[in-house]
Amino acid sequence: MNNNGVLSIDFGTTNSYYCKCPADQIAPVGVDFGSGRDGLPTAILYRGDREPLVGEAALHEFGEASAQERRQYRLCTQFKPDIAQSAEAAETAADFLRTVIAQAQRQHIAMDPAQQHVIFGMPSESQGDFRTTLTEIARKAGYGQVRLLDEPKGALLYHLWRKDFSPEEAQRGILVVDFGGGTCDFAFLQSLRVTCSWGDMELGGRLFDDLFFQWFCEQNPGVLRELQEMGDAYYVHSYLCREVKEFFSLTMARDRSEVVNKSVGRCGSLRGMDWPAFMERASHYMPSPTLVSHLQGMGVRCRSVTQREEPIDLVEWFRRSLVQGFSDEAVRGGDISLVVLAGGSSQWPFVADVIAETLGVDPSRLLRSDRPYAVIAQGLAILPALQRQFERTRETLRADLPQFCRNRVRPLVERVTGMYISDVATDVTSEVFDKSIRPVLEDFRDKGGSVSALRETISANVKADEDRLREIIEGRMRTLSLGLPGQLNELLADWFGSYGLSVGDKPVGDGRFVSVQGDVIGPETPDLYGGIMETVGWFVVGLATSVGAMVCGGAGTALVATGPVGLLAGALLSAVAAFLAVRYGKTKARELADNWNAPAWVIKTVMTPSRTAKARQQFKSRLEETLRRETAGLQDRMETRIREITEAQIEGLSEIAQL
Ligand SMILES: Nc1ncnc2c1ncn2[C@@H]1O[C@H](COP(=O)(O)OP(=O)(O)OP(=O)(O)O)[C@@H](O)[C@H]1O
Ligand SMILES: [Mg+2]
Repeated sequence: MNNNGVLSIDFGTTNSYYCKCPADQIAPVGVDFGSGRDGLPTAILYRGDREPLVGEAALHEFGEASAQERRQYRLCTQFKPDIAQSAEAAETAADFLRTVIAQAQRQHIAMDPAQQHVIFGMPSESQGDFRTTLTEIARKAGYGQVRLLDEPKGALLYHLWRKDFSPEEAQRGILVVDFGGGTCDFAFLQSLRVTCSWGDMELGGRLFDDLFFQWFCEQNPGVLRELQEMGDAYYVHSYLCREVKEFFSLTMARDRSEVVNKSVGRCGSLRGMDWPAFMERASHYMPSPTLVSHLQGMGVRCRSVTQREEPIDLVEWFRRSLVQGFSDEAVRGGDISLVVLAGGSSQWPFVADVIAETLGVDPSRLLRSDRPYAVIAQGLAILPALQRQFERTRETLRADLPQFCRNRVRPLVERVTGMYISDVATDVTSEVFDKSIRPVLEDFRDKGGSVSALRETISANVKADEDRLREIIEGRMRTLSLGLPGQLNELLADWFGSYGLSVGDKPVGDGRFVSVQGDVIGPETPDLYGGIMETVGWFVVGLATSVGAMVCGGAGTALVATGPVGLLAGALLSAVAAFLAVRYGKTKARELADNWNAPAWVIKTVMTPSRTAKARQQFKSRLEETLRRETAGLQDRMETRIREITEAQIEGLSEIAQL
């Protein structure tokens, strides 16, 4: 079976999605059953002796049927949640799934389950008996021995494939919100395992269809009775008004100041819809008798809708469902590093708002594909191919790492720190040597004086410069600590990218916090880039201190005193001593030399312009040498860091391979 393709099924309460993918290639294709959309409504229409209809065709046929025709018909929808408890629901589900295949074959859609590796999604909160039943139903419906996988994992895999986050990030906490037509599910995943899931089985997109249906009826007095007489109420409700809703929602996602008008088939139109009016209606929504009788007619036990006495705020309902998992303390807001939005209703602009606001997650941490309703099926379909690819990637990453460090990381760090070193050396030399030392030397050369006075003046000048020097060094450090991580990030992203992986996030320096209802719970796990920043940051702090100490530190101008200037002073001292020796003898001369006020002509013999220039050059190269010694450690540290990052990625890949 290994070379066969994969057929995945997101068997939903309202809609079901089928997706195909070759086993050796990550190329998922959603099956379009002819409606021009992905998937099909989870609905089956029994028609006495005739073969049942499924999907769009079933709803359409039922919607258009006369009262008399309807007596022969039995429309079943929303049976999926009940399959484990009700034998009838299980039977209906098997009929539905079987008919989908039969109908697809008649449409010449290539998706024979016998030829494929079949994966079914299942709600993550489902228990053992649900799983057993679903497996059994699938077998009976002709799908063979199927594999079951948590639905939210599908959403995760899809975004992983799209490189919306890295395998390493996938190991952290990710909240998957699946807001569909009939239900709203939440799952919290860590290391690709669902650690907690919750949701509301009654909050779904169809309530919003109803909101628009009521809006339409209000604007078109008399239309409801007409629709009821014609038997079109259901059709207008769940098709045309759903279309109006989706159009309105998409417009609002684009621009919430728009005013929307839309015709409702041939029955009339809805005009002047805007965001405030919608929110107003959503804030005290009451289910319409049309929806209630429809749900009851189908035997749907949906108490908070069918037996509602008080209006309800739909947006608030969503918020309450969301925080339920947090108030049960199963999940802490601080654990969430990403939120994946799946399900068609997640396209409502208020969904992202509520999540960002309530969890305190930055909106940039919310992910949604352009077809959020299809991601689960797509993600499930690519699993085998993705696993195979990751398996290979893992091996090559590991094998290529040493070479990458040697040939790319080291040269980059060397180049960047090299530039930094020469910049610092140039700046410090011109600041210290040219401004504080050279004028003293020249003055000394012109006027003469004692070597000890020369040393002291230089020392004092350099000391007076200390603050300015520190500023220069710190300024340069900042450039290094900002520049190097950025370049390393780019290099890494590029390298991982060449294996089809993402390293996730942009560089971040400040810790992000995720909170629930205003309480800051804790800092997020530091991310990879943050890690690099930190490594460079700390290093640079150390460097600033040691360079500062070197140039103008405690013992006073160490570099100045013992360095090239010291040498120059030494040469001067010998010349002065030689001059004095004629008069006082060698020993005495050496004693006197330091404090003797030498005349300018003696000094000039030693302190030639070329000697001064040489001293300057030596000063600079001594400085560079020291800096180079200091930065060598940074290279090792960066390499270690990159190794760690790669290991984390490899570990993330292993998790996926084990799914
Ligand atoms: N742009 C949109 N804005 C708001 N709602 C939308 C939009 N597009 C689609 N929807 C709604 O999304 C719902 C369908 O979503 P989806 O197909 O994910 O549900 P489902 O998986 O069948 O439902 P469930 O998960 O409850 O079983 C419908 O109510 C549809 O009207
Ligand atoms: Mg769904």
